[in-house]
Amino acid sequence: MAAEMIGNRCIVLRSRPGVENEPTESNFALKTIEISSVSEGQVLARTLFLSVDPYMRCQMNEHTGTGYLAPWSLGQPPKGGGLGTVVKSKCEGLREGDILYSFQWPWKEFVVFSGDDSHLSKESSPFLCSNPSLLLGIVGMTGLTSYFGIREKAHIKSGTNQSVVISGAAGACGMAAGQIAKLDGCGMVIGICGSDDKCHWLTDELGFDYAINYKTTKNIKEEIQLKCPAGIDVYFDNVGGEVSNEVIRCMNPNSHVVLCGQIAMYNKDVPYPPPIPEDIQNQLRNNNITRDRFLVLNYVEKFQDAKKQLEAWVREGKLKYRETIEKGLENTGRALVSLMRGGNIGKQVVKVAQDD
Ligand SMILES: NC(=O)c1ccc[n+]([C@@H]2O[C@H](COP(=O)([O-])OP(=O)(O)OC[C@H]3O[C@@H](n4cnc5c(N)ncnc54)[C@H](OP(=O)(O)O)[C@@H]3O)[C@@H](O)[C@H]2O)c1
Repeated sequence: MAAEMIGNRCIVLRSRPGVENEPTESNFALKTIEISSVSEGQVLARTLFLSVDPYMRCQMNEHTGTGYLAPWSLGQPPKGGGLGTVVKSKCEGLREGDILYSFQWPWKEFVVFSGDDSHLSKESSPFLCSNPSLLLGIVGMTGLTSYFGIREKAHIKSGTNQSVVISGAAGACGMAAGQIAKLDGCGMVIGICGSDDKCHWLTDELGFDYAINYKTTKNIKEEIQLKCPAGIDVYFDNVGGEVSNEVIRCMNPNSHVVLCGQIAMYNKDVPYPPPIPEDIQNQLRNNNITRDRFLVLNYVEKFQDAKKQLEAWVREGKLKYRETIEKGLENTGRALVSLMRGGNIGKQVVKVAQDD
């Protein structure tokens, strides 16, 4: 196996952007280290794909602003969603060629895992083993986030013609949330995103009824009211900030905000969830609008069933997706920086192992 003869490339966090700054590629550095030997009970995996995600921006800070995310250490490889294939196994139950995935995959070309690592899973679906990057997106953490966000917090009742707004709609969670809301029987879905190309994709291919480009629309509230005069029943909020304030101003009494994420605030020095203006707090309170904290990791015991449903929808063509694929481990930092600036359509991943 050639891997044992060459070094192991990894990405380390070289510097922190500073709490009020955008991350840059120079915050990361490429390093070569030795591949650790494989002891009894361990496997060596070759990384195939890494996920970059907005929450990682918070881990670049010394203090993440949340209790459930640890800061990344300077000089060390970050960890996040990733997957790979077993190239050497001294572990019962894992064989060469198996596909493994984890939410704690280090940004390295080769990784030694303990076979009893509680974060590590072996994929058994032939479809997903042939399309492994989906395990990081539409059938992975972001698809699950959309699934549980809609099923647990949106209160969609099929056939009652509810109207749903999704922000960050052309991203990994947004694309899935809008489609799942439709699959669950809502009425109208309006997506909000940052380019005309993204808007066209949402309406022409994903079945969203309308899409609004928040970067070029002067008055988002008026635009929503024009498209949906009856008011909004569900808001799947991926972004926070002024876009979300405008949506919440259009919401009906007894409606629901799914507080998925607040990416517009991740380059700012605020805790999560960030504070909201007083008039928005009043709007929520006076109209009995729910806005509970939502974290996909609170539903881990239901992941396997949900994953099967997501895979089935994908295979049946009912749940469409796109991926933006950056090539090369060395470009993982670039992919994260690009994601934070809206460079992705659908799920942003990094393809680490190139086809031989
Ligand atoms: N609660 C949970 O358990 C959970 C789990 C996963 C993710 N999340 C959250 O879900 C949200 C979406 O995550 P994702 O992985 O699907 O990422 P994503 O939407 O695929 O990528 C991020 C997108 O955010 C948009 N964006 C960036 N800066 C923005 C700003 N200032 N205002 C408005 N939009 C901005 C960009 O698209 P545009 O071109 O549209 O600007 C970018 O493509 C994030 O807030 C994330 O933290 C929550």
